[in-house]
Amino acid sequence: MNLNRSVALVTGANRGLGARLVQQLLAAGAAKVYATSRGASADAADPRVAPLTLDVTDPASVRAAVEAAPDVTVLVNNAGVVSIGSALGGSLDDFERDLRTNYLGTLRVTRAFVPVLEQHAPAAIVNVLTLLALAPVRLTAGYSASKAAAHSMTQSLRGELRGRGISVLGVYPGSIDTDMLAGVDTYEASPELVAERIVAALTAGETMVFPDDASAAAGAVYLQDPVKLERMLTGY
Ligand SMILES: NC(=O)c1ccc[n+]([C@@H]2O[C@H](COP(=O)([O-])OP(=O)(O)OC[C@H]3O[C@@H](n4cnc5c(N)ncnc54)[C@H](OP(=O)(O)O)[C@@H]3O)[C@@H](O)[C@H]2O)c1
Repeated sequence: MNLNRSVALVTGANRGLGARLVQQLLAAGAAKVYATSRGASADAADPRVAPLTLDVTDPASVRAAVEAAPDVTVLVNNAGVVSIGSALGGSLDDFERDLRTNYLGTLRVTRAFVPVLEQHAPAAIVNVLTLLALAPVRLTAGYSASKAAAHSMTQSLRGELRGRGISVLGVYPGSIDTDMLAGVDTYEASPELVAERIVAALTAGETMVFPDDASAAAGAVYLQDPVKLERMLTGY
């Protein structure tokens, strides 16, 4: 998709990957980016950035955002939360929060913006998922399940939106150096690089992207042998 003169909306744009996606979309030619966050929106230094309040779990907030952003051509569902806990040991309340945000929140925002996107087609939806949507790790079982649900929803959308001028890109990163992984000792890709590769994949019209070196290697395993990736990540 040609991003020149596009109008993007990014959820969870106040920090982490979302903030970098705003910058990369502008660098790729977007005319305007709604940088949404669930906190109060502060003024942006760049006139092309329009701050907007949006909590993906709050239907009234989502309705208000659609009214305030009626010209969106690229919806980037980036907002997400993670809980720590295994399938047998994790808190169900935490798992529910993962689902409410990562799956139902993403779906809610998507449903609300599809009429806007269709009106301004060609348009695109970008769903930031995770490699763990394709195979979980034990310690984030609730998060992995919520992203697996969002992965399935991404596939459903692609079919349902076929022929309606809206493309759907699924994003499957490995570990990224943001607050989400604060305190976790592992290799983490730079959020700038991940954002750059996501926007490149969007521009190239891809349907799936593994936007860092670790996820690209694991993604290659998945595409050849999904059970092998499951064994690698769950350690069974
Ligand atoms: N970091 C990683 O290793 C990694 C790997 C794979 C995929 N991802 C995915 O990448 C995306 C961005 O994560 P990140 O690494 O940038 O994490 P992050 O630094 O923790 O940022 C998460 C963002 O989501 C927002 N958010 C959370 N709940 C929200 C809600 N109900 N409504 C609106 N916004 C909400 C947060 O807003 P507040 O500031 O208000 O909390 C924040 O802006 C997520 O979908 C995550 O699952 C991350």
